[in-house]
Amino acid sequence: MDLLRLAAAILVVLLSSSSVSHGARPLPQPGPIYMRFVVNATEMPSEDYYDYIVVGGGTTGCPLAATLAQSYRVLLLERGGVPYGRPNVMTQEGFLSTLTEVDTYDSPAQAFMSEDGVPNARGRILGGSSAINAGFYSRADPDFYLKSGVDWDLGLVNQSYEWVEKEIVFRPELRNWQSAVRDGLLEAGVDPFHGFTLDHRVGTKIGGSTFDGAGRRHSSADLLNNANAANIKVAVYANVERVLVASTAQLAGPRQAAIGVVYRDRNGRYHHAMVRPNGEVLLSAGAIGSPQLLLLSGIGPRPYLSSWGIPVAYHLPYVGQYLYDNPRNGISIVPPMPLDQSLIQVVGITKVGAYLEAASNVIPFSTPPRSVFIRTPSPPLYITVATLMEKISGPTSAGSLRLASTDVRVNPMVRFNYFSDPVDVEKCVNGTRKIGEILRTRSMRDFMFREWFGSTSFRFVGPPLPNDLSNYYQMAEFCRRTVSTIWHYHGGCVVGKVVDRSYRVIGIGSLRVVDGSTFAISPGTNPQATLMMLGRYLGLKMIRERMRYR
Ligand SMILES: Cc1cc2nc3c(=O)[nH]c(=O)nc-3n(C[C@H](O)[C@H](O)[C@H](O)COP(=O)(O)OP(=O)(O)OC[C@H]3O[C@@H](n4cnc5c(N)ncnc54)[C@H](O)[C@@H]3O)c2cc1C
Ligand SMILES: *[C@@H]1O[C@H](CO)[C@@H](O)[C@H](O)[C@H]1NC(C)=O
Ligand SMILES: *[C@@H]1O[C@H](CO)[C@@H](O)[C@H](O)[C@H]1NC(C)=O
Ligand SMILES: *[C@@H]1O[C@H](CO)[C@@H](O)[C@H](O)[C@H]1NC(C)=O
Repeated sequence: MDLLRLAAAILVVLLSSSSVSHGARPLPQPGPIYMRFVVNATEMPSEDYYDYIVVGGGTTGCPLAATLAQSYRVLLLERGGVPYGRPNVMTQEGFLSTLTEVDTYDSPAQAFMSEDGVPNARGRILGGSSAINAGFYSRADPDFYLKSGVDWDLGLVNQSYEWVEKEIVFRPELRNWQSAVRDGLLEAGVDPFHGFTLDHRVGTKIGGSTFDGAGRRHSSADLLNNANAANIKVAVYANVERVLVASTAQLAGPRQAAIGVVYRDRNGRYHHAMVRPNGEVLLSAGAIGSPQLLLLSGIGPRPYLSSWGIPVAYHLPYVGQYLYDNPRNGISIVPPMPLDQSLIQVVGITKVGAYLEAASNVIPFSTPPRSVFIRTPSPPLYITVATLMEKISGPTSAGSLRLASTDVRVNPMVRFNYFSDPVDVEKCVNGTRKIGEILRTRSMRDFMFREWFGSTSFRFVGPPLPNDLSNYYQMAEFCRRTVSTIWHYHGGCVVGKVVDRSYRVIGIGSLRVVDGSTFAISPGTNPQATLMMLGRYLGLKMIRERMRYR
């Protein structure tokens, strides 16, 4: 292990130690009273019928289910529990603790290591990854609507965003680090300044947040508040194992169709949820979960499924292919003064393929007792680590996913092939250069330490940038060596390859995939706004279509 990897490993350990002594503030009272329709899967009947079965109570699945339940009988199946009442999940300060919590079937973040060697995480809780994320909220880049392969109704897109925003999006209050980053971005030429806006515009802006003024988290789970309680059932701790597919008697359209799903509760008991006539199964299990479920249901590349002994329902070669993750690179420093804790609030949107963000985390760690003779433990020591990071747009480097087991609870093997396309390297070099330029602005001087001989320098935690920002080779090497994830992984069931423009699975009736797995490109910005909009949007579209043909 070279020194820099060692430093990176120490940083990981440093961050992990936060779970030990983290004192999140007491939980503000969980709001929603809708819990009446949220039940433990153990209490569900062994067989039941619904118009729509939504698999995955995540970022997209919750608004989708809530919308469909306005007019139809809906079942939402989520493998995890509820976020309310969990202090780490429900507060901004708990962000790192949730991510570093020991991974059990009950932890809200399911950790996984990609084959690229980068630690990553998936939400496993009602609200999905929107219940464990950093809360930054911004509408998609206008380019997204042109390039995502879907004929968007932009009026309905806006209506759908607004429906989400009035419920769970807040204007953040900038404190010291975020304000300094805003100024640094402008000094480094990432302009103009747009102030607070939910739109994606080149320059520097303050985005929305799903954390409210008290630092309390809101997530897509809150959107279930809008559901018609008489029409919806939400089963938590419900692990969906596969989609049931049967031959259809129809002369037109696909010869096979989804007729229901099989799920298992925490007592190991199986349940069947079946669709009523004209009903559908909707997979919203995310970029890892949805391709995994299609494969486990026999929908995927025939030779691959056969190698696992999975009976083939339909040969669909691109399931699990075109999987992408936006690489994250950046630097962390320990400033000479304490900083306010902040997740992402200010962003810099460049024209050169990179997107800049910042965070500051208070990291408590217990020091060993000062003396072996004094038994009282010493108080925890707090340091703040301030981070500047960039992610690239796109990306175009594609990876893939394979099963690691036929047990749905086991994470598939995932490879993102970061920087396999040189264009992605170039974007990263552009973005990390921008970070270097920000570090050289006046706004960053307060965050440097004064050395004994009068000069000033940053105290880096983990690797610093190369000194010579103009050296392309060194900058590219930094990108490859320090790559981590910004958790915006997407694809695996992309539009045009696995689903059509209406998100219907190609070749199988009554089955759609509606989540980040359908994206062949990221929405420029952080994806949660676009995914929540998509859940609402498609729900409204489906209701309209069905009304029209009745
Ligand atoms: C740590 C982290 C920080 C992030 N920060 C931000 C940010 O600040 N802003 C932003 O916009 N985006 C952020 N993201 C990205 C964003 O949260 C995700 O892109 C988005 O939430 C994905 O939504 P989804 O609907 O595709 O999947 P998810 O929200 O992950 O939903 C999938 C759901 O399906 C469930 N599921 C999966 N398999 C099964 C099964 N077999 N049976 C039953 N249920 C199943 C899962 O438990 C989960 O609830 C972050 C992500 C992470 C992980
Ligand atoms: C759900 O039921 C299982 C099995 O009875 C139990 O172990 C689990 O604690 C329950 N969870 C909740 C949140 O009630
Ligand atoms: C949708 O909202 C955006 C602002 O986010 C606006 O620029 C655009 O004109 C709106 N489009 C429609 C069709 O209303
Ligand atoms: C990187 O930045 C340069 C200008 O600094 C620009 O010409 C180039 O197009 C950028 N690369 C990408 C992939 O956007």
